[in-house]
Amino acid sequence: MKDHAATAVGLSRWRAPQGIQTTTQDGTRRMAGAAKLVYDGQELELPIIEGTENERAIDIGKLRGTTGLITVDEGFVNTGSCKSGVTFLDGEQGILRYRGYPIEDLAEKSTFLEVAYLLIYGELPTKEQYEDFQHSITVHTMIHEDLKRLYDGYPKDSHPMSILSSMIVTLSGYYTDSSDPLIPMHREISMARLLAKTPTIAAYSYKKSIGQPFVYPRNNLSYIGNFMNMMFSVPATDYEVDPVIERALDTLLILHADHEQNCSTSTVRLVGSSRANLYATIASGVCALWGPLHGGANQAVIEMLSRVHEDGGDAKKYIELAKDKNSTFRLMGFGHRVYKNFDPRARIIKKACDDVLKKMGVHDPLLEIAKKLEEAALEDEYFVERKLYPNVDFYSGIIYRAIGIPTDMFTVMFALGRMPGWIAQWKEMIENPGTRIGRPRQVYNGATERRYQDIGKR
Ligand code: CMC
Repeated sequence: MKDHAATAVGLSRWRAPQGIQTTTQDGTRRMAGAAKLVYDGQELELPIIEGTENERAIDIGKLRGTTGLITVDEGFVNTGSCKSGVTFLDGEQGILRYRGYPIEDLAEKSTFLEVAYLLIYGELPTKEQYEDFQHSITVHTMIHEDLKRLYDGYPKDSHPMSILSSMIVTLSGYYTDSSDPLIPMHREISMARLLAKTPTIAAYSYKKSIGQPFVYPRNNLSYIGNFMNMMFSVPATDYEVDPVIERALDTLLILHADHEQNCSTSTVRLVGSSRANLYATIASGVCALWGPLHGGANQAVIEMLSRVHEDGGDAKKYIELAKDKNSTFRLMGFGHRVYKNFDPRARIIKKACDDVLKKMGVHDPLLEIAKKLEEAALEDEYFVERKLYPNVDFYSGIIYRAIGIPTDMFTVMFALGRMPGWIAQWKEMIENPGTRIGRPRQVYNGATERRYQDIGKR
């Protein structure tokens, strides 16, 4: 690998001067010549673009064509993969807004279905639009009877995320005549089917794991009410949806609905950019979400809290373990790539957690442990220095537990919540005429050319 010692990047301090700033078709502002790359004695001007919330980026679209250079950014820490108008997140200030609306307002006043509409179509719906949207979803809640038989092929203790991802991709086999991502009508119906059927698929995976009969969807119930009914009712007795639980779940799903270009959403965009159908695309997002560093953290948090509890509840001991670089233990539900301040979702969930447990009359010792861990971490230099705060997953599992959702279903709940965000981001991408297939480059560091040796000579 060559070492270009003379390479330097000079970024002139940017102000917003009159006259040389242009607004582009995609709503960003562009300023020519704001950043200069000095490379091998040549100078290249790189435009700076600015988004509507004034966040700035160097546009390197012409970099390789002009210089032969690419950029390397492992983990995409500095890379903007797209321009997007869906969600705004300021990690330094702890701000999260969907389509401009603060998460705090939406969590308090809106419903999950309304937020889904907002994310997907860009505006809050009128009453009529909302009713149409709700109707288009409720008419698709059932799954094909043949699909139900697939559940018999899963071992009893299959993780529900494996069932969810494979069932979602299998849906594409049932809708081969209406899943072309380039046809608007196909997009609409695929989006509605996914929002409608995911709760059914998820609830059936739970019923399968406990050996109870599947409960058909009920379209006279709310989106959440229907999900709860499919999860918790049995044919032998009556079941009534508890409004406290219904509201708590609705709020949790709103808080999970989108989070700009996280791991699973980026996966969705990447897979979708190949023009795979929406079912295959979303299934890939479900798989990406499963990992414990992403959506799987909510399950990992409860497992961690249970371990601390069973070990006598000594929070300090586990804080020390999380700091120990010789240990693989991390404080699950803590830290975030983007938030270097409190995760605003965690604030809302912590309060909801206290409220819900109080209203339900539940005392969960894991909540006490979580609070002790949080308190100890927020006073500890290691966590303070690294700006590690509780994230969305730290308290959500305690609410799920109180509601009766089993631990291995927690990440499925995250997936239910994230569905409209994945769909909205995919729709934005696929409807953008400028979208090209996602195809990162690499810096090769393997063997240089060598000759094949017959096996006897190796
Ligand atoms: N416990 C202990 N140390 C931590 C933790 C943690 N939870 N998170 C980060 N650190 C340390 C890390 O060891 C590193 O220390 P050092 O500078 O000494 O090497 C420093 O903080 C920076 O961490 P990083 O791993 O480089 O940060 P990242 O941006 O690559 O990772 C993260 C972000 C969320 C994967 C990470 O904080 C983590 O593993 N947290 C626990 C898992 C978790 O809660 N994930 C859910 C994220 S929120 C829901 C979602 O959107 O999916």
